[in-house]
Parts: sequence; C-alpha cells; structure tokens
Amino acid sequence: MKQPVRTAVFPVAGRGTRFLPATKAMPKEMLPIIDRPLIQYAVEEAIAAGANRMVFVTGSGKRAIEDHFDRDPELERALDVSGKQDLLEVVKDILPKGVSCVYIRQGEPLGLGHAVLCARPAVGDEPFFVHLPDDLIRNGRGCLAQMAGHYQQHGASVIAVEEVPLEHTSRYGIVDIDDNQVLKGIVEKPLPENAPSTSAVVGRYLLTPAIFDCLEQTQPGAGGEIQITDGIADLLREEQVYAFRFEGQRYDCGNKLGFLQATIDFAMADPDLESPLRRYLRTLL
Ligand code: G1P
Repeated sequence: MKQPVRTAVFPVAGRGTRFLPATKAMPKEMLPIIDRPLIQYAVEEAIAAGANRMVFVTGSGKRAIEDHFDRDPELERALDVSGKQDLLEVVKDILPKGVSCVYIRQGEPLGLGHAVLCARPAVGDEPFFVHLPDDLIRNGRGCLAQMAGHYQQHGASVIAVEEVPLEHTSRYGIVDIDDNQVLKGIVEKPLPENAPSTSAVVGRYLLTPAIFDCLEQTQPGAGGEIQITDGIADLLREEQVYAFRFEGQRYDCGNKLGFLQATIDFAMADPDLESPLRRYLRTLL
C-alpha cells in the first residue's frame, strides 16, 4: 500500500480576465455551474479521491472562496428560523467534517509552477494532487480518484491527458510518451509543428514531493512564467511520471463556450431541469 494522497492544491490566484466584467469583483472560481461554484466541484472531486486537506493558493480579490468554505452562522440561523431545513443542510455540508482548508497567498503572479511551489509548506514531504478548477470533469468516479488508484499501483507521479486537435497544441502542455504511458518529455504550449504529440495535459496532477526541488530551480519559460510543465520536465530526469487517460468528459470552463457546454450538460443530467430545458432547447433549434 502506497502512502494515501491527503492534500489537494488549488491554484486560484489567476484573475479570470476572459470573464470580465463578471470577474471584476468575484473570483472566476466562484462562477456557478447550475447552483455550485466551480471551486466546490473541485473540492468535492478531491474529497472523493480521499483528500482531507485543501490548500488554496490565492491572490487579491479571492476572499469569497474563503467565505464559501467557512460556516455562516447568521445565514444558518435565518434558514433554520424560516424552516428551510433542506437548504440549511446544503449550506452546512459544503465542507464535510474532518476536511480542513489552508489559504496561502501567491504574492506575485509568477506562474502555475510558482503557485504550486507556494503550497510547499502546507504539503510537506508527501504526494499531493494539483487541481485546476477551470477544467471541470464530469464522471461518476472523479478524475482524481482514478489517478489515486493509478498511484496506488505504480507509486509514481501521474498527469491527466486527453487528445486534442493538432491546431490546439499551443493551448496546453503536450506530452511525449512511450508505449507504457511513461513520459519521455513534456513541453508547454508548443506550436503544432513542434508538438511531440497531440496528448494534452488537463488540469489534474498527482505529484510526488520531489517536484518541489525541481520547481525551486525552474526558470521562467512560456509567457515569461514559471511553468509546472518545466518543473515536471526536470522531474523526469529523476523519477518516472505517467500520463493518464481518464474516464469522463472535460469542459474548459475558463472559456465562455466550454462554460456554457458544461452548464447545459449538467442541467441535462439534473432530474428537475432535464425535461423543461429539453422543451426549451427544442423551441430554439
Ligand atoms: C495550464 C498548464 C497547461 C495545461 C493547462 C490545462 O495552462 O500550464 O500545461 O495544459 O493548464 O488546463 P493554462 O490553462 O493555465 O494556460
């Protein structure tokens, strides 16, 4: 039995400029799909994978995330007094018992690799998940739980990947893998002509703590930022890292179309919304 993965890191310092003005005074991670913010789906996926320590790497303007996962005695009292017990349970259960939250500020926006390195004091010398809440994955058994199963088998870092069209390689980290899905290389946002494959990294990583020493040395790369991709490229010289093809549908909720697709698919899977939404969509098409 390998060490269980207890900690999940959520890099949430980014400003979400693609959703301005909605994200002017609200973190992009608080945008809701139906009735739950993206960050809540992220935390639920990590809990389903066995994590009980949530580490948020935040920045300015992100206080709403802390409030969301905190108790709100005034709201709870008001719901109680007005007899809204079902909503009271929903509000109280946002964070199950035994799950704790740690907030660390990323003082400067130096990149995703830097954000992960900021989490080092909270993670310690253990394997950990990194979850990018913009990438929403719908599946009965969450993506991180699938990756934790892989880690129990192989005891090595795991990176979720999926195939993308060749013309999209410059939006993602792209991996070069052997027949056993072991990484030979990884490069951040290559042009199609330089891409080693069309297997793209999506926002789920399970990393061994050796990544931290690599990130300490990582220099700014694509976009002038310290990239997690470059830290992983260094890690490959010391340890095996696996690419993992997860089950489930990924939505890029960092862009408007992906966000709308997620909203529609989640609504179609909701017993209360499915048939009225279907009727409405028929009138449009
Ligand atoms: C980040 C990573 C990239 C990965 C992507 C997945 O990029 O740097 O390697 O493919 O997340 O969503 P970003 O979307 O932050 O530009």
